[in-house]
Amino acid sequence: MKIIIAYSSKYGTTKKVAEQISQSLSNHQAEVSDFKSITSDKLAKSDFVVLGTSIHIGKSSKSFIEFCNNNIETLLSKKLGLFMCGLEKEKFAEEFAKAFPKELINHSSINLIAGGEIIYNKLNFLERIILQKMKGVTTDIVELNETEIVQFAEKINKISL
Ligand SMILES: Cc1cc2nc3c(=O)[nH]c(=O)nc-3n(C[C@H](O)[C@H](O)[C@H](O)COP(=O)(O)O)c2cc1C
Repeated sequence: MKIIIAYSSKYGTTKKVAEQISQSLSNHQAEVSDFKSITSDKLAKSDFVVLGTSIHIGKSSKSFIEFCNNNIETLLSKKLGLFMCGLEKEKFAEEFAKAFPKELINHSSINLIAGGEIIYNKLNFLERIILQKMKGVTTDIVELNETEIVQFAEKINKISL
């Protein structure tokens, strides 16, 4: 099975999770790519698509949602898995519901909330102020759900068999 893992990542955590998933796919070779580099043709030739996005200020990026909507017919014709990176546990359900078009959430066979990371020295000035004022965050945070990430990949291995 041809698997594409398309991610939307601002500072690299969602990309890292996409790569972790790919490395745990023992039964199949997967291609990991920034969603911006994925052509409609490539999507059409895949059997299974995994879409992953991070959440910043409550939302996934506008261009990622546009990519999903522009390719919705193709995505709805594939086996689909969705994952999200974020750090606000109490908002995860609400954020996930907004992170992808509703049709894709209804269609996907597996979902994952992967947790997230803050690498403080990668943030710009405004983001540091936002995090400090709103959340009191002033240092790195690493809260990835490693077990769930591996379990998500294992489920893909089983679905694909
Ligand atoms: C400025 C800023 C705003 C954020 N806002 C949210 C948020 O609203 N909800 C949430 O769950 N996580 C939020 N996060 C946490 C990110 O989702 C987390 O850092 C994630 O790992 C980022 O992944 P990326 O590097 O792939 O973009 C925020 C992080 C930053 C730096």
